[in-house]
Amino acid sequence: MIKNICCIGAGFVGGPTMAVLANNCPEIIFNVVDINNEKINNWNNNDLNELPVYEPGLSDLIAKLRGKNLFFRTDVFHCISIADIVFISVNTPIKSKGLGAGQASDLKWVESSARTIAENAKGHTIVVEKSTLPVRTAKLIKTILNSSTKKENLSSPSKTFSVLSNPEFLAEGTAINDLTYPDRVLIGGNDLSAIEDLKNIYLKWVPKEKIVTTNLWSSELSKLTANAFLAQRISSINTISAICESTGADIKEVSTSVGLDSRIGDKFLKVGPGFGGSCFKKDILNLVYLCKQYNLDEVAAYWEQIVEVNNWQKNRIYKTIVSKLFGNLSDKKILILGFAFKANTNDTRESAAIQISCNLLNESAEIIFHDPKVDRQQIEKELENYVENYSSIDFSKSKISFSKNIYESATDVDAILILTEWDEYKNIDWQIISKKMRSPSWVFDTRGILHQEVFNIPGINFWQIGNGKFSQKD
Ligand code: UDX
Ligand code: UDX
Repeated sequence: MIKNICCIGAGFVGGPTMAVLANNCPEIIFNVVDINNEKINNWNNNDLNELPVYEPGLSDLIAKLRGKNLFFRTDVFHCISIADIVFISVNTPIKSKGLGAGQASDLKWVESSARTIAENAKGHTIVVEKSTLPVRTAKLIKTILNSSTKKENLSSPSKTFSVLSNPEFLAEGTAINDLTYPDRVLIGGNDLSAIEDLKNIYLKWVPKEKIVTTNLWSSELSKLTANAFLAQRISSINTISAICESTGADIKEVSTSVGLDSRIGDKFLKVGPGFGGSCFKKDILNLVYLCKQYNLDEVAAYWEQIVEVNNWQKNRIYKTIVSKLFGNLSDKKILILGFAFKANTNDTRESAAIQISCNLLNESAEIIFHDPKVDRQQIEKELENYVENYSSIDFSKSKISFSKNIYESATDVDAILILTEWDEYKNIDWQIISKKMRSPSWVFDTRGILHQEVFNIPGINFWQIGNGKFSQKD
């Protein structure tokens, strides 16, 4: 009988996932722990606007459950020692140096979590991989856990472990809904009793036909494959957007027509500035690394191309802007609308906005950033990280400013660039904006959110991604 669950990692995945589990299992205590004390303090903040993760519906759950059966704590060792199940939900970024640098996942946090569990667990503990991991990571975790039991009397060890893979499929911005109504819950493992225990938790709210059990390696690989397929669709539609601009076709019409084929389906065919988020690039590069390790070079090259196309999409947007502004951005001001990697999240990891704005700054443009949920420090941190990794990019911080008011900050700008599809950008009064901008003024809509009617507003030149109407006019 599962009574106590611990989750290591109070991030974008751990926090919302445990909140939904706690909501559906009031009889189980959930302790979410993190090595970052400040993050735990923020999860415990009385002001629900200050939670470390913004997700629609999350603050209501936290208000309802925190202190009842959901706790955010820093006493990691104790929480592990009393847990029947420990979820590992720590970050697994791409390795920055050494073997596999730039492609393989850095598993140091997973490894240290496994060691901490090995040292502190008591009795039988089910260890669940929630983080997205390279195939066969469960073996690494098992080896570390078992090495701790080997030091004991083998006939009656005081601790035993089962390892399961239970990947997350939540998308940020819709995490609570995705967790509440999942398409499927995947549980990989070979210990039937542990699988049953975890399955029984999900059965509290997920129909049984949606719970799929597989072997460990299939579960790990399914997660990587699902993300690779989703990213592949986005890169595919983004390549077609360029053909639309050249030929006069309209990407929205093309993607609607293509998506109506039930064999293809209409999801993940939205054109954009290139996919971002912590998962897609990392998971594909992980798959690429795996293929190379098994000498599957053609397979590796195939998947690597998805990431290449994504970079190309970001670069071609930046080049379009430079070209429309007469090839010169010095002494020009650009207002960037949106820095989050998609709407309804404050997450900026791998956001297309990072690469595009750094390239514009490198051309000596002055940039004003606006985002309803991302703060100034976060934007500065992302830009600094990018410059550190790409030493060819150079700009002065004095060229950057931040605004919370779109209309005020449009004064005298030469261009407005929409990079995130926030609802408030869909209803901008372009009549007002047109009078404030410096002429000739340009609006670049990289998310295809503006309607045809606004394109006729006098005083502004519009460019919309994948919309051939504008290339014909040129
Ligand atoms: C998750 C997954 O775990 C990752 O594999 C997936 O690909 C993306 O989503 P996410 O929750 O988004 O990661 O990461 P993040 O928001 O950075 O949260 C991870 C948390 O783990 C951080 O708060 C970090 O402080 C914490 N952590 C890290 C620990 O508590 N212990 C560690 O040893 C390492
Ligand atoms: C993704 C997966 O969807 C999720 O299942 C997995 O668990 C984690 O990774 P996430 O990164 O949160 O989720 O967001 P997602 O909605 O998949 O969007 C990723 C990126 O693709 C965003 O930058 C988004 O703007 C972009 N995108 C998405 C498009 O450009 N077009 C689309 O049609 C869909």
